[in-house]
Amino acid sequence: MSDLNRRDFLKLSGAAAIGGPAEAGRYIDTGGHHIEAVAQTGGGFLADQPIALVRIGMVGVGLQGGSHLENFLKIPGCRITAVCDVREERTTWASKAIVAAGHPQPAIYGKGPRDFERLCETEDLDLVFTATPWEWHVPVMLAAMKCGKHAATEVPAAMTVDDCWALVEAAEKHKRHAVMMENCNYDRPEMMVLNMVQKGVLGEVVHAEGGYLHDLREIKFEKKDEGLWRRAWSRKLDGNPYPTHGLGPVANCLDINRGDRFDYLVSMSGPSRGLQDWAREHFPDGAPERSERFTLGDVNTSLIKTARGKTIMVQHCTNLPRPYSRIQVVQGTKGMYQGYPNRVYIEGRGKSHQWVEMAAVRDEFDHPLWTAVEARAAGAGHGGMDFIEDHRLIHCLRNGLPTDMNVYDAASLSAVVGLSVDSTAKRSRSVDFPDFTRGRWRTNPRLAISAD
Ligand SMILES: NC(=O)c1ccc[n+]([C@@H]2O[C@H](COP(=O)([O-])OP(=O)(O)OC[C@H]3O[C@@H](n4cnc5c(N)ncnc54)[C@H](O)[C@@H]3O)[C@@H](O)[C@H]2O)c1
Repeated sequence: MSDLNRRDFLKLSGAAAIGGPAEAGRYIDTGGHHIEAVAQTGGGFLADQPIALVRIGMVGVGLQGGSHLENFLKIPGCRITAVCDVREERTTWASKAIVAAGHPQPAIYGKGPRDFERLCETEDLDLVFTATPWEWHVPVMLAAMKCGKHAATEVPAAMTVDDCWALVEAAEKHKRHAVMMENCNYDRPEMMVLNMVQKGVLGEVVHAEGGYLHDLREIKFEKKDEGLWRRAWSRKLDGNPYPTHGLGPVANCLDINRGDRFDYLVSMSGPSRGLQDWAREHFPDGAPERSERFTLGDVNTSLIKTARGKTIMVQHCTNLPRPYSRIQVVQGTKGMYQGYPNRVYIEGRGKSHQWVEMAAVRDEFDHPLWTAVEARAAGAGHGGMDFIEDHRLIHCLRNGLPTDMNVYDAASLSAVVGLSVDSTAKRSRSVDFPDFTRGRWRTNPRLAISAD
């Protein structure tokens, strides 16, 4: 069992059942790629029966959940019929917003932090969507799937490798979608780059970089919203607790889980200074915040090697003064893209060694989905990308299609949390990614996001 660990081995026999025709769901090939191999291995991704009207239960309707809720109210073919939050003011807000949009009053669940279990058991729902603090994503997803509902979660899907496996195993067992809502996969520049890569404009992608570099010091110390839970994670671990915004889009460019996969990772953190300094400068002597001690290194850098030999750098920095960036580098054999500011270099076009602004090639490479949905996304959260991801989720469910993002993406991208903590603690020794697809990454179809 050299490159097949015990868990993979135990699961292999079960894997055969994944591809076969299922009562509640079926697995199909989405892109016309590798169809022969798919037929042999039973690969491909879950597609369930089309759902005419997607009934949604929202768990956690704070800042980001509230923004998704507002999107769903504008998307035809779905209804929010149940809402759960531990804060009554948020369930009241959500209920009012739903009724104001002309929909029936939703069922309300607010009797404590595990009331989502009652929601999952009681309500007739197609989808449970959670935008709770990180520690609740997996419990909500598991409860939803156990009760026969598709599940979607904000990022990251899970904070440990075991929890990543728990999601994969539940999705396969119950034949339910388990989608991690990585909105940055849908941002316009990221989708343009994916389009360019899939058209072959950049040649073969050999290296990529992504990150989440966002000064959150003030937000982490607020006495509301993310201040109530996010800072605590900076006391609990050292590694990369939030890898998916930068990594998701470049993973798509590298066909991760669809022709390649993350193989191993090394990770390193620098010192933890930012939050301590901020507390000292903003709270009076004796304030409890000034005695908090943080373990999260201010800058964490991980390197990932893929099975096909490609390299990826992923960074996290949320505790220091700096402008926002997700880095976004995609280096191919024929050119490259670099974000912040967005620019491209295509060999043989333009002047040698000089960037071209991304805006100058937008007409040529804009992703058709953006061109089609742009007007409807205007004004929605994070420049419209959140609306587009919500729109795509509902579209796929309504049409019985595999979702763009699936449980294997959720697990592989989120595994970086646990693996980076592990490697950081072991003087940056390399740690292996599990193969959540159990070999099907070789034959899974390439991601194809249509303009619908
Ligand atoms: N994709 C993005 O761009 C983006 C942006 C912001 C936040 N997020 C993610 O969204 C999630 C929520 O973040 P936020 O900024 O909305 O935080 P928030 O604190 O504003 O909202 C969290 C909500 O969950 C509720 N909650 C907490 N525990 C609960 C439980 N057990 N059951 C039901 N409700 C519970 C809280 O009362 C709150 O209303 C996090 O996973 C975060 O990483 C993603």
